[in-house]
Amino acid sequence: MSSARNVEPKAINVTIDGKACSAVFGQTILEIARENDIYIPTMCYLTKTLPIASCRMCIVDVEGVDGAILSCQEKATDGAVINTHNDELFKERQSIMKLYNVNHPLECGVCDKSGECDLQNKTMEFGVSGQNFTTKEPHRPVQNWGVISYDPALCIMCEKCVRVSTEITGDEALKVKFGGYSSTIENVKQDANYKTLGEAAAVCPVGALADSRFKYTSNAWELKQIPSTCPHCGAGHDVIYETKKGEIYRVSNTAEFSTMCSASRYGFDIANKDVKKDETAFKSALKAFESAKTVVFSNEISNEEAHILQKLKESRGYNLVSHEARAFQKFMASYGTITGKSLYSGSLETLSKSRAVIVVGTRVNDDAPIVKYHINMASKWHRARVAYMHPIEDVEMKNIVTQFIKYEAGSEEGVVALLADTLLKDIELPENIRAILNDLDIGNLSAESNIGEEELEALRKSLIKKVGFSLVVGADLYAHPRAENIAKLVALLEKYAGFNVICVPPAGNGMGISQICDLDDAVEGSTIGYNVQGDFTLSALGNGDLDMPSFTQQEGTLTSLTKRVTSMNVVLEYGGYVLNDIANELGLDADYTIEYTKALPVSKGFKSVEFDDLTDYFDAKGNEHRGYSLDNVTVDTDASIEEVAEINGFDGTVIYNCNPQEHFSAFTAKSNNLTKEANLLGSQQFATAAKLTDGDTICYTIDGVKFTRVFKIDTSLKGTIALNPTFDMGLSTALLSSYRFSKVDLERVGS
Ligand code: SF4
Ligand code: SF4
Ligand code: FES
Repeated sequence: MSSARNVEPKAINVTIDGKACSAVFGQTILEIARENDIYIPTMCYLTKTLPIASCRMCIVDVEGVDGAILSCQEKATDGAVINTHNDELFKERQSIMKLYNVNHPLECGVCDKSGECDLQNKTMEFGVSGQNFTTKEPHRPVQNWGVISYDPALCIMCEKCVRVSTEITGDEALKVKFGGYSSTIENVKQDANYKTLGEAAAVCPVGALADSRFKYTSNAWELKQIPSTCPHCGAGHDVIYETKKGEIYRVSNTAEFSTMCSASRYGFDIANKDVKKDETAFKSALKAFESAKTVVFSNEISNEEAHILQKLKESRGYNLVSHEARAFQKFMASYGTITGKSLYSGSLETLSKSRAVIVVGTRVNDDAPIVKYHINMASKWHRARVAYMHPIEDVEMKNIVTQFIKYEAGSEEGVVALLADTLLKDIELPENIRAILNDLDIGNLSAESNIGEEELEALRKSLIKKVGFSLVVGADLYAHPRAENIAKLVALLEKYAGFNVICVPPAGNGMGISQICDLDDAVEGSTIGYNVQGDFTLSALGNGDLDMPSFTQQEGTLTSLTKRVTSMNVVLEYGGYVLNDIANELGLDADYTIEYTKALPVSKGFKSVEFDDLTDYFDAKGNEHRGYSLDNVTVDTDASIEEVAEINGFDGTVIYNCNPQEHFSAFTAKSNNLTKEANLLGSQQFATAAKLTDGDTICYTIDGVKFTRVFKIDTSLKGTIALNPTFDMGLSTALLSSYRFSKVDLERVGS
């Protein structure tokens, strides 16, 4: 493995429309122009993908060069003198717009895109006032692709949708069907009904791809846009709620630069509606807090609410229990003892720029779709090698994975030890670390994990001469009985092999909670549940003893896996009590919850910034100025690492707790837009081994939680481990504390 090369980009100077512009070698003319506030019209350009170069609207003149140049793909040379506007260029661009309008129905009066349509805007900008000629229009009916519909008659074949489907989300469902004037976009994976196609509709510059649910419900200009942060997946990406008459009509984002997960695009119908102040319930809540010993809560609370709970712990001695966040907190604390830092090193940006990515201990396409998108970007933009290590192959990763390494469920500690041994082989290490690695019984670990030494050697060789490595690890490791030793072994790869490591935090605000609260392991005495069942339950799900606001009904901040603190704004009305009201009665003092934004713990990396001073925008280069980045705090080190423990393998009927891609919690389960059956999914092989047939109703128990589910055969699955969704059981926090693989006894109760 080579260490990362730090080559300073070469500075260049160019002149655009008479303005002297500084840039770096490798930047395109369009990029430089945009950075310098110089407008060049485009129709097919999308900042977050590679240049598509299909529209020719971005043509410019470069002095000394014959013919017009496509500024979106042409890299500027030092000293170039560029003109972006003159009569010739205007005429050429006008001709392009005239061509776009040949046979375009111009039915703007009924088109969803009207008011935000690039074709409409540029038709006016270039003074195209009529259709001078037409051609025979083939019959091309509107196609229904589930979450979106496609109208070929409106399509201008800019290919943006194809590029995001390929380069960003990686579903690779959309392709160009070439046919000259009759070229269209086709969905080659209609059966999969990918919700990720919402992203394709988001970048469509015209009305060709329309959100099926939003279609014909509102004009764009009637909608009020309220920026916020994704409450579901934990990636903290930007969302814009678009509302009218007190309802959310759709959710969009800054699609030019960022990408939204399907849960936030569609799972916005989570409000706790029609809530009024219920004084009796409030008094009962105060009484319950007086006698409670423990507050148990889900990841769906804000940083400020987590801070309130921490303050209440300090003043009243509550145990704070949030199982997933606690497992992650302990993992990161142990991780930090090797790296000396409170945070992992990697980011989505470093991930998408990687030349090699290793994924261990997460079904990442489902656990953190935004992370999967960035692995996909690395694969598409840098031909990154992607090694996916997991007991279960994932068909949704197949097109980007270059090496699938299957290991036995339960053997994660051995797997990570083998990885550390393999990838640190040629690297100078402190004696004690080298001694630990030398003591590993590689033959035994290989046998128990079922990873062949030749597989590891192939992985090692594939990384030689590459630069820019990322390692993505996830929840399978955090709740593993040996999580803390696993964390140290993973951290060795960050510290000594220069891997950009992303430890995918639990969804929702698991990252923020784990940073803010001193969490406990044990539930003691009577409990207050917040968004989970307790002896007294506060709930934004509408099923508790006292109502609370959902994430779309409150102000506050969230902390994301990008280690960024960003704001959520009030989108919908809420008339009930909030946690801050209870806290004030219990001795704290703040008029509004967001008074705590500036009080978030600086010792944990937060900044003392007022909520109203948090920024929320992307600049012309696409740099994010949303909230602020957590500081990476120095922590005490302890380089001791334990021997790898005996592996407790699993045999018999094994299931893996895993939610489908757009589901994370009881809140996504509540969303009608995301309705999904929660079935146990297994391969034919699993069905045969467990003596089940498709459609059987079965019962099984995990950590005391009883499941009754319909079993379905999923032909995309292989092997003998079935997938058990938990999102619909959001109130069963006991389950969330368990290691994700479980051996279960299945009882058939119906077929
Ligand atoms: S795509 Fe644009 S130009 Fe075409 S009908 Fe719709 S709003 Fe009008
Ligand atoms: S459907 Fe939209 S994004 Fe896709 S090629 Fe047509 S116009 Fe472009
Ligand atoms: S923006 Fe350059 S060809 Fe379309």
